[in-house]
Amino acid sequence: MKINSIGLNEEQSHIIAKDLNVLLANFQTYYQNLRGIHWNIRGRSFFDLHVKFEELYNDANIKVDELAERVLTLGATPFHTFDDYQENSKVPVGRNISKDEDAIRLIVDSLKELLILERALLTASDEAGDEGTNSMMSDFITEQEKTVWMMKAWLSEAV
Ligand SMILES: [Fe+2]
Repeated sequence: MKINSIGLNEEQSHIIAKDLNVLLANFQTYYQNLRGIHWNIRGRSFFDLHVKFEELYNDANIKVDELAERVLTLGATPFHTFDDYQENSKVPVGRNISKDEDAIRLIVDSLKELLILERALLTASDEAGDEGTNSMMSDFITEQEKTVWMMKAWLSEAV
């Protein structure tokens, strides 16, 4: 068993970095979804939602950078091309979404995919003793679950 410079099993770190790259790709789709609905939203809730979506894409942008730098910390190269993002992303792509309800649903559906990937990474990083990735996933999950609750409240639906 080879141990890397941060004291983790090298093989496990590479597997986790690979999964983090997949999460990164999915995050980029989520980010672009948010840009799209920020730009295209119409209707009576325009002023509220335009600002809310900007807040969310700024947060997603920070998380994308944190993910990429974690990949590097684990000894791998972060995905950085649209080709890799498209190839590795399962988050639904929102196109021409201008209705408030459709925009909020796109966020819920996107976050669901991210949460599934993050939970798998939470388990894998726990097994590898990778506290850095583990705590990052834990923070992402807590924040995103709260966002899902708020979006579902906006939709007048239970989580
Ligand atoms: Fe803007």
